[in-house]
Amino acid sequence: MPQFYVTTPIFYVNDAPHIGHAYTMVLADALARYHRMSGDEVHFLTGTDEHGKKVAEAAGEHGLTEKQWTDTTSARFRQAWSELCITNDDFIRTTEERHYGCVQDFFSRIRENGYIRKDVYRGLYCVGCERYLDESELVNGTCPDHKRPPELMDEENYFFELSRFEQPLLEWYDRCPDAVVPVTKRNEAVGFIKGGLADISITRRSISWGVPVPWDTDHVFYVWADALVNYLTAIGYREKDAAFERLWPEVRHVIGKDILRFHCVWWPAMCMAAGIAPPKQVLVHGWLLVSGEKMSKSRLNQIAPTDLAADFGVDALRYHLLRDTPLGADGDFSYERIVERYNADLANNLGNLVSRITTVVVSKCGGIGPAAPPCDEPLGREAGDKGLSAGDEKGGPSVIGEAVAALARHATVAVRETGAAYGRAAPHEALQAVWTLIREANAALEKAEPWRAEPGSEVDAVMGAALESLRIIAILVAPAMPGVAAEIWRRIGLAGEPPSFALTGWGGYPGGLEVLRAEPIFPRRR
Ligand code: ME8
Ligand code: MG
Repeated sequence: MPQFYVTTPIFYVNDAPHIGHAYTMVLADALARYHRMSGDEVHFLTGTDEHGKKVAEAAGEHGLTEKQWTDTTSARFRQAWSELCITNDDFIRTTEERHYGCVQDFFSRIRENGYIRKDVYRGLYCVGCERYLDESELVNGTCPDHKRPPELMDEENYFFELSRFEQPLLEWYDRCPDAVVPVTKRNEAVGFIKGGLADISITRRSISWGVPVPWDTDHVFYVWADALVNYLTAIGYREKDAAFERLWPEVRHVIGKDILRFHCVWWPAMCMAAGIAPPKQVLVHGWLLVSGEKMSKSRLNQIAPTDLAADFGVDALRYHLLRDTPLGADGDFSYERIVERYNADLANNLGNLVSRITTVVVSKCGGIGPAAPPCDEPLGREAGDKGLSAGDEKGGPSVIGEAVAALARHATVAVRETGAAYGRAAPHEALQAVWTLIREANAALEKAEPWRAEPGSEVDAVMGAALESLRIIAILVAPAMPGVAAEIWRRIGLAGEPPSFALTGWGGYPGGLEVLRAEPIFPRRR
């Protein structure tokens, strides 16, 4: 059984989750769901990053201890993800016991392998970024992302000898052209490496909120060094678990472009230094912008995912996030845009298709869904020659026959393209493929006009094909919109939840099931 180990960044708990984080989560969740539905062994990890100065400061500002603060804020992330139907298998907190031991083991191994040395660090540190800034990055003396002046740091630290990994990293990028996708982000990482790598400080003396350094307890690990190791902790690196052996070679890190350098330069080098394989793939997405600026906790432009979900429904929010932002590109988030997308794709297309099909089945087929007609023998003259939509005079295929054949053909294409798009981590293309099928299904019905025909075998053939298309559509949209998929499944009389992607072949709708006509799934919005 193929493995699919997918991770998200572990988020800082200095504040509440916003839809930038939700975007990462929904992306990873759609991939996880697709791979589960394809029969792969999936392990989906997320969590919270709880050490570092930023979190310690936020706790202080709220008059709480770090522990009290992180317990509360970590729970907010957990809650938000459950409200968005995120199916993570594990939720790691870096303050957990299991993580401390793993960080200590990992860096002890790197030290034994000779890649850690002690030195003095003098530099400018931005607490908002939780990293050292270069003088050249400052704008009017402040960090351009956090609009605050950096702090001068001058202390003895342990350093990871990143500079020794320039060549090994470049060779790895050559050997594994898909290690970072999309290719623009890969090129950016290669550019950093070619620009030259300096050693990096991985410990702090001046703070105590962190994982203690086992060989020198005056130090704690720098928050980023600690955080990256979460991907190993969660699958039992320290215990040499069978899960680690199985899952690590198949890891995919989903991240935002803000943390590319950590994941595409530092992390693979650290893995090499510890003697394990660098990650199989890093999937880098862009930012959600609000009026051209990155939505972030430190700017007051955050939008809470649960507010939008309450407004549009969880699935509509998930759809918008996945459909409107190709992997790697920035997306401009606006209320108008989500409403527009909702009305066009959900209310007018998918919602309309479901209403039409269920309404006609209730009015013309006595509410019992007819079975899918076979597609390898598209219904020809015989099926069409008795009724309103009969075949043409020249003996060509009937309107009914054409409708059935068109639906079967479009469904087959959509299945192939949706799977391929998910396979290359492009949910927005997967959804485009499904929506082509949805539009074609509406068009085929408009042409055949079963609502104007007399009940009988022709109407049954068209409606069987329409229900079969809807059954396939429910499976194909399930990774992105699990709630809607389940609802369509229920309305066409099927039991359980949309099952595996293996069952998307034409002809699976058995017929004889009670079809429900109900409220529109997506009432139109203004
Ligand atoms: O960087 N648009 O945590 P963080 C899209 N703890 N995605 C966004 C976003 C936006 N406007 N804002 C945030 C950290 N994100 C570290 C990670 S991992 C070992 C440690 C998402 O709370 C995006 O995935 O600042 C980004 O990479 C992540 O949140 C940063 O979250
Ligand atoms: Mg950040």
